[in-house]
Amino acid sequence: MKFLGLDLIIKKGMSNSNNSIVSSHEPKDESIRLDLLTWTEVEEYLSHCKGIILPIGSTEQHGPTGAIGTDALTAQSVALEVGRRTGVLVAPAQPYGMAEHHLAFPGTMSLKPSTLFNVIHDLLISLAIHGFERVFIINGHGGNIATIKSSFAQSYKSAATMQLPVAKHLRFKLSNWFMAPEVFSEARSLYGEREGQHATPSEIALTLYLHPSLQTKQCELPEPPSVGPIYNSQDFRQRYPDGRMGSDPSLAKAIHGKMFLDKAASSLTKDLTNFLQES
Ligand code: NI
Repeated sequence: MKFLGLDLIIKKGMSNSNNSIVSSHEPKDESIRLDLLTWTEVEEYLSHCKGIILPIGSTEQHGPTGAIGTDALTAQSVALEVGRRTGVLVAPAQPYGMAEHHLAFPGTMSLKPSTLFNVIHDLLISLAIHGFERVFIINGHGGNIATIKSSFAQSYKSAATMQLPVAKHLRFKLSNWFMAPEVFSEARSLYGEREGQHATPSEIALTLYLHPSLQTKQCELPEPPSVGPIYNSQDFRQRYPDGRMGSDPSLAKAIHGKMFLDKAASSLTKDLTNFLQES
């Protein structure tokens, strides 16, 4: 099967990675990170596998105790773990997303929906030009979803208009790690309603696992406002004064984060494997 990343593990990967959390016969990061390969290695890779993973996050407030980079850090970590388990290449993470509604909080850096639409389109078309036929986006931010899906439609159109050789076989898939059923149900069982919808204990737990220094920022927090609508950025800050939407990130523990990473990577590895084998 020419798309199946598992072929790559068998061919390349009997080495162990110290960063990995499960498999003992998986490729090292330097063989799955696009940014560490040469163009000749990418050309060689394309002769075995036409798939690639693109992580995307957001740079935005995550409540008074959460890191600004939470969505990008988490998406990148899940993407790299899926890459280690499958041998499929992982592109550098896109750290900026559509975070207009968080702009009343300092440190938030947002792309307008139209900008993000164009960024995703241009990245997808770049990959398609070189013969990548399956792009699996691992997303860490709900605010990106609508725009990414619109961008897929435009990119199919552009590939056809440009008469790219891959146009007929091109497939894009969006996978939101925090919505994977195993992750969602574990978050519900650990945190119940206190998972909330933004600056959630599950995503904060993953950042605590990835960056233990973030533990020093954690503390008890007052009862959050309950989840409600999202309009403009000023309205958001009025409704949700410290940035949280119904969440209690003080429940987050690094050990939970390790488990969320494992569950997200297992679930998305299955999705990716099916996606690569799809006709
Ligand atoms: Ni987030």
